[in-house]
Amino acid sequence: MSQDPITIAGLCGSLRKASFNRLALSIFAQNLPEGAKVVPVEIGDFPLYNQEILEAGVPAAVAAARDTIHGADAVVIATPEYNYSTSGVLKNAIDWLSRTTPQPFAVKPIALLGASMGVLGTARAQYHLRQIMVFLDGRPINKPEVMIGAAHTKFGADGTLNDEMAVKLIKDLGASLVREVHRYRAAATVV
Ligand SMILES: Cc1cc2nc3c(=O)[nH]c(=O)nc-3n(C[C@H](O)[C@H](O)[C@H](O)COP(=O)(O)O)c2cc1C
Repeated sequence: MSQDPITIAGLCGSLRKASFNRLALSIFAQNLPEGAKVVPVEIGDFPLYNQEILEAGVPAAVAAARDTIHGADAVVIATPEYNYSTSGVLKNAIDWLSRTTPQPFAVKPIALLGASMGVLGTARAQYHLRQIMVFLDGRPINKPEVMIGAAHTKFGADGTLNDEMAVKLIKDLGASLVREVHRYRAAATVV
């Protein structure tokens, strides 16, 4: 098994500084197995998608994000739920990235998690993301599902997540993603 460091490109679908999803992503990063790390991908400077902008050249912020994701072993996406789907900010970013070459989500292991104020904890948003990733040939891992409901009652002012089960699931998700990366690496060495 390759011991090379594992890089995971991290996207957050909320631009809020105090975002629960940003906090969840940070807990994910802190609980990864040794040798794996999250590299943040900034999507807040992407313009609204417009093919005419693309025809003039891939915007610098989009190109930088594409390169980070393409160069990473895996991706983690923390999504909020807006009106029973993922956020417009995240969809806009995925739409942009999907029109770049190489399309960076293709055949890439992807961990999904999310936090929302509703009881279903982004379940609907995450299933929309899974559908989007079918078209992009991404490889979202199935389990565990991390859906943090009633997030406003669980995150402390200091960023801690006061839900032992959710913290365990986040840790298990990181371990599962890293195992998947090792499987991909092993498969890549088979001729
Ligand atoms: C436009 C909008 C739509 C929302 N729709 C939902 C929803 O469908 N389900 C839900 O659980 N929460 C919904 N919320 C509340 C979010 O869960 C809450 O704002 C959450 O804090 C967003 O994630 P963040 O903390 O990472 O920014 C919505 C919030 C906004 C602003």
